[in-house]
Amino acid sequence: MATKAKALYLLEPKGQFEVREKEIPQPGPGEVLVQIHATALNPVDWKIHTYALFIENYPTILGLDSSGVIAKLGEGVTTFAVGDRVLHQGFFDNSKFTFQQYAIVPAEIVAKLPDNLSFDEGSTIPLAVGTAALGLYNNKTNRGIGLFPPWEEGGRNKYAGQPIFVYGGSSAVGQPTIQLAKLSGFSPIITTASKHNEAFLKSIGATHVIDRTLPAAAIKSAVRAITPEPIKVAYDAISLQDTQNLTYDILASGGSLVVVLDVAVDKERITEDKFIARAYGNVHFLDQRKVGVSLYSKLTELLAAGDVKPNNVEVVPNGLAGIPDGLEKLKKGVSASKLVARPQE
Ligand SMILES: NC(=O)c1ccc[n+]([C@@H]2O[C@H](COP(=O)([O-])OP(=O)(O)OC[C@H]3O[C@@H](n4cnc5c(N)ncnc54)[C@H](OP(=O)(O)O)[C@@H]3O)[C@@H](O)[C@H]2O)c1
Repeated sequence: MATKAKALYLLEPKGQFEVREKEIPQPGPGEVLVQIHATALNPVDWKIHTYALFIENYPTILGLDSSGVIAKLGEGVTTFAVGDRVLHQGFFDNSKFTFQQYAIVPAEIVAKLPDNLSFDEGSTIPLAVGTAALGLYNNKTNRGIGLFPPWEEGGRNKYAGQPIFVYGGSSAVGQPTIQLAKLSGFSPIITTASKHNEAFLKSIGATHVIDRTLPAAAIKSAVRAITPEPIKVAYDAISLQDTQNLTYDILASGGSLVVVLDVAVDKERITEDKFIARAYGNVHFLDQRKVGVSLYSKLTELLAAGDVKPNNVEVVPNGLAGIPDGLEKLKKGVSASKLVARPQE
């Protein structure tokens, strides 16, 4: 096996990107080395570049979504074999980011990629499903709202008959939120999106899709017209100030809201009877690992059964070198799709 491979580096804060060679990292005990065949682009990648967030040491690699093939097993790993097709999330370390040809990852947060999914499709899953799952099913002291997961024994349909409101259903995070809500039994599953995404969102589990361009008051009355039940669970997958205010208003007393950016609900709206969790969608974090390991132990089954479906894929040309243009495109906005690059190209 070669000792060097390519990675896309961001050379300095807000600086230039460059493809460079680096040593292939070696998996430690309990880890695996993955040859990355597809990596999805996420808003956090362009935000790190544009606003110089999170990263202390440069040059840095970016990228938090991968699917590929197991290239090497670290000591003690028995759950995978070299050559297995897998998917996994990246993390904030130059041996673990995914805008490169090889990355290492703890085996307990890797899942086999079932035959019904391509590498491109597989790479759209990890960060999005992790963010949806951790927000809904991690406990309240660990940035979640403490629901019981549907992939665990006794979890299917546990919330049958209870409504849920998901703001931004067509986003990467919104899609798995709807799909997990369906497995949890929530009904109706009410979401917002552009009109042209209505049929797609119904195909993955939404029962009602409200046009997101309507004024806030019209969205609130549309929700009231759909169900007389109090909305005790809401997930704002967009989490801008206006979407947080709207979602918070829709949430009933005693309810819980997940947001994916910092809490921006107007102070005068906040009341003690509504709980807000600010999700951090990465299963590498040790305080989120338990839910992550549990999710990854069942993820292959969920994907094979079509209970969790990939996002729509748009491939970015030119391998790693094409990613900077892809990030510019993502910054301008996508609709119900994920940009995916192929690092081996
Ligand atoms: N906390 C975390 O760990 C975490 C993890 C992942 C993402 N995030 C954050 O979550 C946000 C969404 O990420 P993503 O990757 O899921 O997004 P995405 O897939 O890029 O979102 C695109 C969707 O957002 C909708 N949208 C775009 N602008 C909107 C607006 N102004 N108001 C309402 N809806 C709008 C569009 O819906 P239509 O096309 O239907 O109009 C589009 O389908 C980003 O800010 C990201 O940084 C946080």
